[in-house]
Order: sequence, then C-alpha cells, then structure tokens
Amino acid sequence: MEIKPLITADEIEERLAELGREISKDYKGKEVLLVAVLRGAFMVMADLSRHLDLSCEFDFMAVSSYGASTQTSGVVRILKDLDEEIEGRHVLIVEDIIDSGLTLNYLIKSLRVRQPASLEIATLLHKEGIQRVPIDIKYVAFPIGPEFVVGYGLDYAGKYRNLPYVGVMGEES
Ligand code: PRP
Repeated sequence: MEIKPLITADEIEERLAELGREISKDYKGKEVLLVAVLRGAFMVMADLSRHLDLSCEFDFMAVSSYGASTQTSGVVRILKDLDEEIEGRHVLIVEDIIDSGLTLNYLIKSLRVRQPASLEIATLLHKEGIQRVPIDIKYVAFPIGPEFVVGYGLDYAGKYRNLPYVGVMGEES
C-alpha cells in the first residue's frame, strides 16, 4: 500500500511546540490532567506534553468506534475508564483525530458529570466540515480534509501507527 505524506514529522514537531506554548500560557499556575484517548493518541500525548511548561499528570481512556473499517460506525464503547478522579481538576483531553465527533461527544458527556473544574480538547487532526455533532475544540494542530489518514498514532487495520508523519493511503497498485 502506497502512503503519500500529508504532514511531515518536522511540521508536526513545530506545530506541537506552538500549541504547547499556547496551552502553557492558558493554564499558567494550574495543575493539568492530560487524558489521552487510546490507542491513537499515545504519540501526540507524548510529544505535546514535552512542550508543556506546566505541572501535569497523565491518565488514559480507551474507547472503540471504528472496528477495522475506515468509516466511523457511530458505536462508542468504553474499553478502559480513567484511573484518576477528575472532580475539581483541569482536564485536557488529547486526541489524534476528530472525525464525526461521535467519540468525543460521548466522552465529554460522560466526563462532564464528574464535575471537572474545566474540560477542554486538544487534537492533532480535525476533519473539518463533517462533524455529525458540534463540538467545541479548543486546540487543533491541523485541520484536514475528508481523506483517510494514517501514521503518527493513526492506524489502518492496526498498522502504520509508528510512521513519524501523517500520510494518506493511496490506491492499491
Ligand atoms: C479514532 C480517534 C478518535 C476517533 C475519532 O480512534 O482516536 O478516538 O477515532 O472518530 P470520531 O470523531 O468519528 O468519533 P479509533 O476508534 O480509530 O481507535 P484507535 O485510536 O485505537 O485507533
């Protein structure tokens, strides 16, 4: 399968440094709990957090929405919940991609009832114009089109997550 680079490793690094500075400014003097949504967000969580000049803690959630296909099914299951209590804490959800918005919509609803002091979202990629549910996303590294992307945490049938860049899957030759 041919993969055409869409966003290079250097562009990702530069943009995450920029976002990191913005987040550090916005949360100055606060303690932040970073919540990554597994599995895809592990890479952006690791790289973004290294640009945060803040007191941070880390937690992880695992949900399932896609199965092995390239289309969103709309079915969201919590596979692993947070280990931390979030009441009264500043929670920043870190995502690799927001596509239909269904996953985040569900997560936000289930986290809001736990009464965090604040709840915001940072995502590497945001597929613009196709959200089925409106979501307020505070930090977006790169808006992208409707193409199916892999790499930098994103998979196709479990593969390609280790690519250091984001690429588009080409036609099978
Ligand atoms: C991806 C991504 C988001 C979700 C976004 O995860 O990490 O959680 O899909 O899609 P949505 O906005 O249409 O809901 P995926 O289900 O592929 O799991 P993975 O991270 O384990 O690959």
